[in-house]
Amino acid sequence: MMDLNLITGITSQLEHFVEAGVDAIWMSPIFTSPMVDFGYDISDFYDIHYEYGTMEDFKELLTRAHELGLKVLLDFVPNHASTESEYFKKSEAGDPEYKDYFMWADPLWVDPENETNRRPPSNWVSQFGGSAWEWSEARQQYYLHQFAVVQADFNFRNQVVKNEMFNIMKFWLDIGADGFRVDALPYLMEARPEDHNGSYPDDPLSGLAQFESHQLGYTIPLYTKDLIDLYPIVYEWRDFVDEYNKEHGGNTRVLFSEGYANVTMTMLYYGNEQGDIGAHFPFNFDFVTDLNAESNARDFVYTILRWLTYMPYGGVANWVFGNHDNNRMPTRFRHDMVDGLNAINMLLPGVAVTYQGEEIGMRDGYVSWEDTVDVEAINRGDNETYMLYSRDPARTPFHWDDTTSAGFSTNLTTWLPVAEDYTEINLKKQMEDSRSHFKVYQALTKLRKEKTLSHGEYDIRAFSDQSFFLVRSLRTYDTYVLLFNVGLASDTVSLSRVTHLTLPATVYVSSINSTRLAGDVISENALTLASGEALVLKAPPT
Ligand code: FRU
Ligand code: MG
Ligand code: CA
Repeated sequence: MMDLNLITGITSQLEHFVEAGVDAIWMSPIFTSPMVDFGYDISDFYDIHYEYGTMEDFKELLTRAHELGLKVLLDFVPNHASTESEYFKKSEAGDPEYKDYFMWADPLWVDPENETNRRPPSNWVSQFGGSAWEWSEARQQYYLHQFAVVQADFNFRNQVVKNEMFNIMKFWLDIGADGFRVDALPYLMEARPEDHNGSYPDDPLSGLAQFESHQLGYTIPLYTKDLIDLYPIVYEWRDFVDEYNKEHGGNTRVLFSEGYANVTMTMLYYGNEQGDIGAHFPFNFDFVTDLNAESNARDFVYTILRWLTYMPYGGVANWVFGNHDNNRMPTRFRHDMVDGLNAINMLLPGVAVTYQGEEIGMRDGYVSWEDTVDVEAINRGDNETYMLYSRDPARTPFHWDDTTSAGFSTNLTTWLPVAEDYTEINLKKQMEDSRSHFKVYQALTKLRKEKTLSHGEYDIRAFSDQSFFLVRSLRTYDTYVLLFNVGLASDTVSLSRVTHLTLPATVYVSSINSTRLAGDVISENALTLASGEALVLKAPPT
């Protein structure tokens, strides 16, 4: 077998995305990095990390992906750079061009008796725990890091920094990237001393007794998160990308923004009522943050409708069920909900976002404290509490098959251990089995090509605490209805309550635990759904 690196390995498996019915992929950061935060600490924004492959390998990946009709999005990480980057080294050394590239500040207080005893400029707490300020001996000042100590925050009030961000985007667009997922936007800007009597304002205290001053949660991030000043920067990026599209033609390059915020602050990433336009969409994390195994059918309906209600007119919705920062979808919900959750993702209007592994129902892997590599787990936890913070369980290798290291590598060991259930849950097996999560996923992505799904109306309502329906309908086209029992007991629902549904209908696809099969005819009004059962029905136009 050819010697593969990460990038050529992906290139060799691109057909998987085509077979799964995926149209675009987002690669988490592939740029040069000391890998303290696995690539989110970038030391060279213009090169490929050596362990992952070469620039040539990446160009080959792009060419092959485009031949297959796949779009490739890169991860754009504007909030911070590695302290190993030239930017930071020069800034720390006081190079006039780079001096104000980062958030440098003098101590709030220095002990006149002992100058090594000093206080940071404010009480701000890092996302990974500890003060967000770090002392630089070389520069004799503190620098800000909202994430790890080695991820220094850029100074977005400096026009030179803003220009550099355009340079970085242009560089990768010129190479052929189809757009960017934009990282950690709520933390882009912080309050400035000028607006607070000359010093950095302390974040208010949460008053929550379980947190000590170095722990995330001790403060309320009033001056460090969701600042209104950050949005104009996102709008400028959108203008830049639109300008690029106009100039170069071809497929629309896109921006998907990342950030956990309340619905109002999240929707501002789409744009504002003054007509500014931002990301093509901000990731919708509601299925990650607001719903879980305990949620009932009404919670699902309410949460889905909230996004669709708050989304600005003309916006494109999107649905996210997992990512590299959160426990895997079947682990947060129940294992028997995989097909129903994938069906929600695929049937709702807008873009369906799948974290690798969801198409085969991959669960969290077990990662011992000894094997733990995530900086968040190591900083915030210890050998007893790390599991509360660790992102490693969601990052274990993808299960291609039941061979060595699940076919992810020919090595016996991998960067994180392969989850033990790989012999049971893997792509090869699911392609062979007559019913599997992957086959359901394929049927669902295929369905998205139907006019009803791409252009139809939606209606979503709870039948009961346990079950709900999601209807997609379009005049003169077939209607599709998802019925999903998210509860723990069976539930009998009345199909006459489903808008736009005329019986008889046929089962288009069913969850693998269902006794019903594709093609089964449903003609009775009363239908009993087992716990976790999901059915997609197809019915003639009303
Ligand atoms: C999303 C994320 C994390 C990373 C952080 C900083 O929150 O992408 O994975 O640790 O941003 O870049
Ligand atoms: Mg610190
Ligand atoms: Ca910042």
